[in-house]
Amino acid sequence: MSLSENFDDFSLYIHFPWCVRKCPYCDFNSHESRGRIDERRYVNTLIRDFDDSIDAFKNRTITSIFLGGGTPSLFSGKSLKRLIRYIRDRVSCRDDLEVTLEANPGSLEHHDQFGEYLDAGINRLSLGVQSLDDGCLIRIGRIHHADDVRKALENARTSGFCNINIDMMYGLPDQSLDMAIKDCEHAIAFGTEHISCYQLTLEPNTLFYLDPPTLADHDSIYRMQTELQALLEDHGYVQYEVSAYARAGMQCRHNMHYWTFGDYLGIGAGAHSKILAEDGVLRIWKEKHPEHYQRKVASGASWKNHEPVRQEYLMVEFMMNALRIKQGVSLDAFEQRTLLNREDLLSLAQVFRDEDLLVIENGLLRCTDRGYLFIDEIIERMIP
Ligand SMILES: C[S@@+](CC[C@H](N)C(=O)[O-])C[C@H]1O[C@@H](n2cnc3c(N)ncnc32)[C@H](O)[C@@H]1O
Ligand code: SF4
Repeated sequence: MSLSENFDDFSLYIHFPWCVRKCPYCDFNSHESRGRIDERRYVNTLIRDFDDSIDAFKNRTITSIFLGGGTPSLFSGKSLKRLIRYIRDRVSCRDDLEVTLEANPGSLEHHDQFGEYLDAGINRLSLGVQSLDDGCLIRIGRIHHADDVRKALENARTSGFCNINIDMMYGLPDQSLDMAIKDCEHAIAFGTEHISCYQLTLEPNTLFYLDPPTLADHDSIYRMQTELQALLEDHGYVQYEVSAYARAGMQCRHNMHYWTFGDYLGIGAGAHSKILAEDGVLRIWKEKHPEHYQRKVASGASWKNHEPVRQEYLMVEFMMNALRIKQGVSLDAFEQRTLLNREDLLSLAQVFRDEDLLVIENGLLRCTDRGYLFIDEIIERMIP
């Protein structure tokens, strides 16, 4: 799939806030489902949220839809089809619209579930694999085993999915360098189009933060990172973002849209939107708790907040996303998507160019190889 080039396109994110069990490292807006989810009620709520929000994106085209969570694969293909059809009937969508579903290998009980998802219009799967070592999976509290991943991928392929990502994590509790490499080799052997490889981080408000497991030290993690990078590259997975690797032409359009500071509409509990309005960039976020969100939308009580991004932070926000992309971001995109002048960006970047951390080539701003190792430090120094 080609990446989004039209500055007027926008992306749609749809949040599904339930999971079978809360993972101890996860700080996403996800809640244990405890019993049957009322899919009809939630889809109706999403539809109302969509109807209420879409006016701000009038006459614009959707380039990608991402159904994320939580665990959207807890929902049936039938429910997702109703939702996707409703949206597609009301907004112009690109012919080659990318529609991703996040799926948990432990929440795919029905054999024909993938067929139903394809029928719903989903054409990209993102499977939360994390590890293929059962010991590691248990230590990070996952509900699935390595065997479930094999079955899920087999079923997905047989059903006809030909654009699949797997999420992997490294730096797991009691994981050695050899174990991380073996994990990555197993992941590569599946031959998916895309692999995301995240370093486990201890996020505040998680069980792991309160009671940290034993993790490898900084130097060992750095070694893991560089060895996994090399392994993935050797097997044809090109790194295009800090944690994202893809075969040629198979980058995730939705995430690229975020990283290039494109506008997006978020619907669902806790979902965020970003939109370029006449007087600057506006951020909107929805009520976070699933029950409160549903009640408020149903009753018409206010379920969203908004705030303009202050000018002095706009450039830093742009850079926080842009510097993640290996190939860089165009100065045209900067001007179109922030309404700021490229001269301002160039003057902010000058000191880092002098230090050989950033470079501008062919209208693209990007990190040098050295700069790519220090993204957090560069951003920290940019904060006003
Ligand atoms: C939005 S999460 C949800 C995906 C899906 N619910 C699942 O877990 O199977 C997307 C990905 O972020 C990564 N992730 C979540 N928490 C993380 C953490 N604390 N550190 C590193 N990666 C994390 C995981 O790889 C996960 O698959
Ligand atoms: S399944 Fe995914 S979203 Fe749900 S708790 Fe675990 S990591 Fe978080």
